[in-house]
Amino acid sequence: MLPAWDEAEGSARAREVFAAHFDGEPTGVWSAPGRVNLIGEHTDYNGGLCLPIALEHRTYVALRRRSDDAIHLFSEREGSAWQSTLAEVAPGAVSGWGAYPAGVAWALGELGQDTGGFDAAVASCVPYGAGLSSSAALECAFAMAFAAAPGWTGPDPDTDAGRAELAGACVRAENEIAGANTGGMDQAASLRAHAGHALLLDTRDASVRHIPFDLTAAGLELLVIDTRAEHALVDGQYAQRRETCEAAAAALGVATLREIEPADLVAALDRLDSGVARRRVRHVVTEIVRVEQFVTLLQTGRVGEVGPLMDASHASLATDYEVSCAELDVAVEAAREAGALGARMTGGGFGGSAIALVPAGSGPTVAQTVTAAFAAAGFTAPAFLAATAAAPAH
Ligand code: GLA
Repeated sequence: MLPAWDEAEGSARAREVFAAHFDGEPTGVWSAPGRVNLIGEHTDYNGGLCLPIALEHRTYVALRRRSDDAIHLFSEREGSAWQSTLAEVAPGAVSGWGAYPAGVAWALGELGQDTGGFDAAVASCVPYGAGLSSSAALECAFAMAFAAAPGWTGPDPDTDAGRAELAGACVRAENEIAGANTGGMDQAASLRAHAGHALLLDTRDASVRHIPFDLTAAGLELLVIDTRAEHALVDGQYAQRRETCEAAAAALGVATLREIEPADLVAALDRLDSGVARRRVRHVVTEIVRVEQFVTLLQTGRVGEVGPLMDASHASLATDYEVSCAELDVAVEAAREAGALGARMTGGGFGGSAIALVPAGSGPTVAQTVTAAFAAAGFTAPAFLAATAAAPAH
């Protein structure tokens, strides 16, 4: 199991990286978690519902503002420095990992909040490229660092409304500066989730509800399987899914696919002329219903019954939305064979991670079965971590 650093270790590591690359001390250390989504996949850019939890795995940023507009960054994981100036940051103008933090500064600037230049060191235990939102964790940790500046008059990180605004700035950073047209679930989870709760995010109006999510009491645990599968087409495929959904909504005369009532789904599908569009729309509309059903089970103390919804979500993502891959399918099948109550891919897909709901204590044996199935299929060995609903950025 990939361990999560505790606060003391994460802060110490970020400070060490800072000390190795800059003179003097950072003003402080801020951190933000990665996430897994329990259910509600590819719904966030369709005005739909999703239900992520924040992970204990976090990204730590030691930061100090500068008196000029230079941006000097160093990441332990990347093993490299990234330098620019605020004046240079604009859509299409910067690239590489520093585009995420620089993009947050840019987006806050667009809100009229000048962050000034900054020196910052990054250390993270959120696995990269695993579909666990390491990029959102990076953005959100910087957003918290900027919002802690003396005299800051921008979004207030001590309120949910302020955090929602910071999340919006992080999404703009990712969409407009880093160039990934993602939907906003990840930043909401990292900034707005509560420990011990799943975050029910309604992307129609960015409102949230905190749904108690206590697996221990139910004798269960959530295992994350990082397939370590790399898929080259991720960006293009994600953007294509989003475009297909937006075009289908336009063809159906609705602002987003959220406006299609489940009872009207069959009629709506009849009005679409492409089979691909029909399948994409069917996934989105049925997935939103599954989120509602999942939440109802959580709220009535029946978390042990969510497995079939997870399985149905995976099937819909694999067949109708076509964002699964061989590694994800083997992971969920092997987990189920080993006793998981339900399993599904989580995040954007095409690789990345799956989650499996398993009886408490059985994580290691399920992990062994999945590892054996991967070896038999000739795949790179997967990695595992335990997911508990942890605290948001601070
Ligand atoms: C990625 C994106 C999210 C969301 C998921 C799919 O994680 O960053 O915005 O669209 O894919 O649910």
